[in-house]
This record gives sequence, structure tokens and C-alpha cells, in this order.
Amino acid sequence: MSPTYDRSDSKVEVTGLEARHYDFLMNTITAGTYPFFIRRVVRKMRIQPDDEILVLGSGTGRNICLMNKYLSEGGRVLGLDIGPEMLEQSQRRFTHHPHITIENRRVEEPLPYQCEFDKVFISFVLHGFIQEDRLQIIANAKHALRPGGEFIILDYNEFDLKHSPWLGRIVFKMECPLATDFIGRDLQAILREQGFDEFRTHPHYLGYVRLLTARKAV
Ligand SMILES: C[S@@+](CC[C@H](N)C(=O)[O-])C[C@H]1O[C@@H](n2cnc3c(N)ncnc32)[C@H](O)[C@@H]1O
Repeated sequence: MSPTYDRSDSKVEVTGLEARHYDFLMNTITAGTYPFFIRRVVRKMRIQPDDEILVLGSGTGRNICLMNKYLSEGGRVLGLDIGPEMLEQSQRRFTHHPHITIENRRVEEPLPYQCEFDKVFISFVLHGFIQEDRLQIIANAKHALRPGGEFIILDYNEFDLKHSPWLGRIVFKMECPLATDFIGRDLQAILREQGFDEFRTHPHYLGYVRLLTARKAV
């Protein structure tokens, strides 16, 4: 029988010291490869100068900084997060960038945005929710996107933990239990059911991580 999970299994709310040093920790855990990896990911987002982008779980704002390099003054980014340390760092980072706003808002609750963004980006956040909340996050992304807009998910790929090499098993010993549930789900099929099509995938980190882009059907 597969285990059942509830919201208390989530570890996606990053706070305290871990949040204050989040970018440094990611660089260290990935042996210095994270900055190159995340730059490649953002390049693959194919950002247009006037794009309006919603970032769900925007963290320290590091990814938004990279996105901003592709934007003109006609573009805009709205980042949502709930972690006090994350909000403090990202809001400070973008004080002098009027086209970048960071708000304190839960991404798994219904959001008020309707057909106003070209892209919705979520990285290393979706795995940390129970399935019911993941579906609400996907519905939020769909409502927020214009028809033809893209939902871009950077997260763990699907794989069989029992048969994966030692590295995968070690990482998942430390990870949120909900991540184990996440890697067993067919995310592309779920997105198709929710009204997305035209999928593009790019594997990273030996295939354990995937960048998945899905288009909101026109
Ligand atoms: C693992 S971190 C990833 C941060 C960022 N996306 C990145 O890739 O660098 C997870 C982020 O999700 C945020 N978060 C957790 N639960 C959230 C929620 N319910 N609503 C909004 N943000 C949330 C955390 O504060 C944290 O910034």
C-alpha cells in the first residue's frame, strides 16, 4: 500500500538560518554547479523583453535577477513567497526595480490573477505540497496565464527511488517526504488534464531534475 501524506509532512517553508543563507547552501550542496545550472535554466525560458512573469515561491529572488537580464522596462515580474527571511532578502534586492514586485502570498490558495501573465515559473516548490494543493497551484498558474502562455516547472523528475543509484537515495533521505510522492506522479499527464499542452522537457543533474514547460491551451 502506498503511504498517505498530509500537510504536516511538508518541509518547503524555508526559514531562519537556512533561508538567510539559502543561495550559499544551494551552491555548496551542488558543489558549485548551481549558478551555471540556474543560468542555463533561465536561458531556456526564452524570455521576451516585454514578458510578464509570475514566480511562485520566489525565494531570495536569485532566479528573478537572472530573468530580469532578458526583460525591458515593458516587462514585469511578480514574485510570491511567505518566508519572512525570503521576503526580506528579495524585497531588498528589488527596491530600485519598479517592474519587479514581491508579495507575501500563499501559492496553494486561490490567487486573484486572470489571464495576465505570459509565463508562470515555479522552482523546487511544487514537490513540497500534498497533491490537493499541487492541483490548486496548477489551477492558479492556468488562471494567471494568457492563452498560449507557458507554465515552467523546475523540480525533481519522475524516477523510481528504490532502483536509483546511491546519490538519489541520499538526497531523498534529507528531502521532504512529499518529494517521494511527487517523483511517483506523471506530472505531464496531470498538466494535460488541467488544460496544458505542447510540453518541452530538459533533464538536469543526471536526470534527477527536470525543467518542464507546458503551454496553456489556446
Ligand atoms: C526550496 S525553496 C525554493 C526557492 C526558489 N524557488 C528557488 O528555486 O531558489 C521553497 C520556497 O517556497 C517558499 N514557500 C513555501 N511554502 C510556500 C507557500 N505556501 N506559498 C508561497 N511560498 C512558499 C519558501 O519560503 C521558499 O522560498
